[in-house]
Amino acid sequence: MKWPGISGIATRAMIFLKMPRFKKSQLRLITICFSTLMLMAYWEEIDNNIVTHVMSFSYRYLLNSFTFINASLRVNPEDAVKYSNRRYLINHERKCGEKDILLLLFVKSSSENFERRQAIRSTWGNEVYIERTLGVTVRVLFALGLHPELEQRRRLKMQLFLEDQRYQDLIQQDFIDTFHNLTLKLLLQLGWKETYCHHARFLMSADDDVFVHIPNLIHFLQGIGHGNARDLWIGRVHRGSPPNRDKQSKYYVSQDLYPWLSYPDYTPGSGYILSSDVATKIYQAALTINASFHIDDVFLGICAKVMDIAPKDHAFFSGEGKAPHHPCIYNQMITSHGHVSDIREMWRRVTEGEVGQISSGMIRRLYCTVAKVRLLCLPFLSNSYPCKAAFLEYGNF
Ligand SMILES: *[C@@H]1O[C@H](CO)[C@@H](O)[C@H](O)[C@H]1NC(C)=O
Ligand SMILES: *[C@@H]1O[C@H](CO)[C@@H](O)[C@H](O)[C@H]1NC(C)=O
Ligand SMILES: *[C@@H]1O[C@H](CO)[C@@H](O)[C@H](O)[C@H]1NC(C)=O
Repeated sequence: MKWPGISGIATRAMIFLKMPRFKKSQLRLITICFSTLMLMAYWEEIDNNIVTHVMSFSYRYLLNSFTFINASLRVNPEDAVKYSNRRYLINHERKCGEKDILLLLFVKSSSENFERRQAIRSTWGNEVYIERTLGVTVRVLFALGLHPELEQRRRLKMQLFLEDQRYQDLIQQDFIDTFHNLTLKLLLQLGWKETYCHHARFLMSADDDVFVHIPNLIHFLQGIGHGNARDLWIGRVHRGSPPNRDKQSKYYVSQDLYPWLSYPDYTPGSGYILSSDVATKIYQAALTINASFHIDDVFLGICAKVMDIAPKDHAFFSGEGKAPHHPCIYNQMITSHGHVSDIREMWRRVTEGEVGQISSGMIRRLYCTVAKVRLLCLPFLSNSYPCKAAFLEYGNF
């Protein structure tokens, strides 16, 4: 059966009602009006999101003064210390020693993620490999809390003890390791650096499902470092993000907790880097701010804002997505997110020097730009690196 279509139905209805006949073009107009009305009926849902973002963006770009945060979230030191002085259950006070340490790298892990830690130890987080092939000293530590379930906690206690005996790279404090306690884990990292590894030049924090291209990262740090890098906070910068007000969301934040339209700029917790002086300043600020704000990376943004420190965007820090597989991408990537079972595979690819096989100079640059544009600039392809990353020369950001 052939459907008459909306305009067909409308024509018949009008004949039936003995209304004046419309021309085809008028009918089209009515159909468009009708569709628009339908769209408007459903608009509210789409709209909500857009309006929220427009408002938070305007807020960020027109006002960009978060001085109220400074005033509103301040707590006195006695209250602040409750968050930051958790007891160490596993610690390595001498891990950094007197050596000249370029980078202290904290991987946020959970007690049960033994496999992930193993994969990292045997690939990008291997201190011995880094020292031997890159000639710098890096310390890699896993930051842990306690498993939320009592039974599991008991079972894992012995396993963690044995694991740590062998690798000496776990730092555990006595707080329950949950999403809502991530800020405590951030305070662990900042506090540990301050107390036991003050001289490390950079601090990096990464998730245990992140792949870090450590050779690229070290070259990058050496390039900007030269011994006295200051005022650096680098990652993928989120600007003008609105707080999530959807109660179903993992990232839900109530009006009570954060009443304003927009967060200060911040870098997602999957991977970012602080120079030593910035880590210290942020830690000092954290000891004066109400740490019940549980989203750790936003909390870091708040502390940084209080100290007037702004993050710098690096296009090859991935926000959420996985890096596309391509030698020209491996050549420049710093982090890629969402790797669990393929970390060893990634490591093999990036260290085998596939990139070297592409001819060098002009031709290679051209080839890589075209390849990267294809991988990063078409819509809906990936959300790993922004399109601008396609046009960056090696070493820039
Ligand atoms: C955070 O850790 C503390 C200390 O163990 C615990 O009392 C609290 O319930 C935890 N909070 C959440 C939301 O898990
Ligand atoms: C910190 O913020 C929480 C949530 O808004 C609030 O309940 C608590 O009283 C605050 N703590 C201090 C010491 O102000
Ligand atoms: C925040 O407040 C403290 C003390 O009230 C002040 O020392 C500091 O300069 C303020 N920071 C900013 C960025 O206004």
